[in-house]
Amino acid sequence: MSVQTTGSNGNGHGSSVPEEIDYDDPRTTRFEKVKAAARQDGVEIVHYEPQYPEKGSRLERRMNRTVSLFFLLTGLFGTAFVVLYIVWPWRYKTGDSLYKLYTPLLGVTLGLMFLFIAFGILTWGKKLLPKEVSIQDRHDGGAPESDRRAVGQTLTYMVEELGVKRRPLLGLAAAAGLAPVAVVIAAPIIGGLIKNPHADNQMFTTGWAPIKEPNGGTRLVRMTRDDGTPIRPADVSVGGQMTVFPGIPEGATNAHADSPTLLIHLRPDDAAVARASNAQGLPHDSYNRTGFMYGDFIAFSKICTHAGCPASLFEQQTNRLLCPCHQSQFQITENAKPVFGPASRSLPQLPLGVDDEGYFVARSDYLATVGPDFWERP
Ligand code: FES
Repeated sequence: MSVQTTGSNGNGHGSSVPEEIDYDDPRTTRFEKVKAAARQDGVEIVHYEPQYPEKGSRLERRMNRTVSLFFLLTGLFGTAFVVLYIVWPWRYKTGDSLYKLYTPLLGVTLGLMFLFIAFGILTWGKKLLPKEVSIQDRHDGGAPESDRRAVGQTLTYMVEELGVKRRPLLGLAAAAGLAPVAVVIAAPIIGGLIKNPHADNQMFTTGWAPIKEPNGGTRLVRMTRDDGTPIRPADVSVGGQMTVFPGIPEGATNAHADSPTLLIHLRPDDAAVARASNAQGLPHDSYNRTGFMYGDFIAFSKICTHAGCPASLFEQQTNRLLCPCHQSQFQITENAKPVFGPASRSLPQLPLGVDDEGYFVARSDYLATVGPDFWERP
């Protein structure tokens, strides 16, 4: 196949008179084919200059090593990201602060990986690839067969000009550096398929969930103070309130930050109103609160449904619970529905009971998710 073309050249590639380019002629250099093909496509290569006139010069080899190092560092930090993602402890554990480094370490390794990838690609392009200036005309329509062949030649030429064949170290370094990048991208997707993040249902359970006993039975969780001592009804005076925690290991720590609960001892008249409201429920509640109170005691999650602050300012005269963060108010005697402020959902109510020894227990976990809304609310 031959193509009629014209051209000029300052580096011994091509000519300034019309010439016939035969793509099948082995004497035609690849650059001549590329140049002719570019011209066919309305692109004129007006300047072409290899970075290193002497191939394999000391300077070129040094740059080759530098770019290789960047790619190897890319691979190193990519691998470090994947290893940390898999093995670094990320769960809160009392007295252990390693989990705090989980996110920063992932961020640092990921950031360095992208930094070195950028350095590698930019340095390769700037310091190893030939300098070329081309001028291109725009055109419309599909490409003819000759153009497509020309593109094939151009791509082959580009691959050759990347110099990977000539610089095996660079090719190996790029492969070693970029393979972990692919793993980094795949890790969060594949990780979620290997290990179910919802396996222990932690988004929907709190420390109040009844404990499974080895004999197959379940034990209800006691209410305790932050020092772990259990609470009897006589410990909270009429009109008073107390913050209580699940009586389980680390129940009063951040390990169960979703569990703090406000136990309130209502006055008898207010308790009667609260009981009637419980029986009536709320339109948006999917659970029945009947029997959730114990005598005149009632318990609600302390985690504000607006943005998760502890709502703990209880006003005895009005039976309203105030959240100090954005002033949401919840009417305790009306199923803790929000009556003021930005919160739009009532506080979840905890079903109360007393065990054989006279201590308060939660008769089940919360039946509604505690805290602010999130995307998986059933
Ligand atoms: S967090 Fe309670 S009102 Fe905003």
